[in-house]
Amino acid sequence: MLFKELQIKNLKLHNRAVLPPMCMYMANKAGEVDRFHVMHYATRAIGKIALIIQEATAIHPNGRISNNDLGIWSDTHIPGLRVIVDEVHKYGGAMGIQINHAGRKAIYKKPIAPTALQFNPRYNVPREMTLRDIKKVIDDFKQAARRANEIGYDYLEIHAAHGYLLCEFLSPNTNKRTDAYGERTLLIKEVVKAVREVWPEEKPLGVRFSASEYVDQGITPEWIADLINELKPLGLDVANISSGGNVDEQEIKLFPGYQLEFAKIIRSKTNIITIGGGLIRDLDLADHAIEDGSCDLVYFGRLLLRDPMYVINNALKLGEEVRYPEFYKRAKA
Ligand SMILES: Cc1cc2nc3c(=O)[nH]c(=O)nc-3n(C[C@H](O)[C@H](O)[C@H](O)COP(=O)(O)O)c2cc1C
Repeated sequence: MLFKELQIKNLKLHNRAVLPPMCMYMANKAGEVDRFHVMHYATRAIGKIALIIQEATAIHPNGRISNNDLGIWSDTHIPGLRVIVDEVHKYGGAMGIQINHAGRKAIYKKPIAPTALQFNPRYNVPREMTLRDIKKVIDDFKQAARRANEIGYDYLEIHAAHGYLLCEFLSPNTNKRTDAYGERTLLIKEVVKAVREVWPEEKPLGVRFSASEYVDQGITPEWIADLINELKPLGLDVANISSGGNVDEQEIKLFPGYQLEFAKIIRSKTNIITIGGGLIRDLDLADHAIEDGSCDLVYFGRLLLRDPMYVINNALKLGEEVRYPEFYKRAKA
């Protein structure tokens, strides 16, 4: 299953392996692309990862996780980001981008959040967003999506996981608003709608969700599934399933594939194209996850940081020969 092609709208993926978004904190203060990023992402395309999703890229300078996040808040970012996309395409990879506002977890002195609740004492106390702030954030997501399309990305992913701004709106632990946005699904719906006005119909749109907060009161995979069923008619094609990061005192039991159960619940209730993973360290588990209906695509995060050639080097274990690129063919074991 891992080596079966998958078509999502006009995007053709040559297998089911995904590099999930992973912040490298290697941009300069202006959020600009460094040669590192080009090398880093192209290397994973050479390693035959079908879908590469660029790290959380900031839609506003005050919504950065660090001062070294990549940015897509200005048209001046377009030429630099285009180099990454072109280089990944050269080696046969599809290139996605995750767009993000870090909300109360931003490095900014006075971060914004649905409610003025601090993540933990090491973070700044946020201020509660006004309706004007909310309008601005929706437009910032939209402008980022417009740029992503102009640059040539194949897949766009809105970050609504890990306790960043859109996740904060989704959770009853962080959204205590009494206005319309106290309806926790309102903002993500408006963001998806706005993004869809500029992100072409034929290109797949995804959202990354935290399917559990690992506390009694909080987001559940069933609740996320209901939300996805409401987002699908607005233009959502893909759900990338993760967990955690919204409350500080979470207790997560880690084991290979620890988030696949969430992906499975969500996929079975929504039938949406699902990306699943979490601590996957071998191709057998990945293959099995697709086989048993947990997900359609599998992400390998830290594994591919350690070893960008892992998929090529281990494909034979699944009885599959993945050809080395021409320039490396003499390296074949
Ligand atoms: C260095 C690092 C940076 C990450 N940055 C992001 C990010 O920008 N956006 C995101 O959604 N997840 C991020 N994650 C989470 C990964 O996408 C992935 O879900 C997580 O590492 C679990 O998968 P793995 O066990 O295969 O690594 C990051 C993880 C790591 C290790």
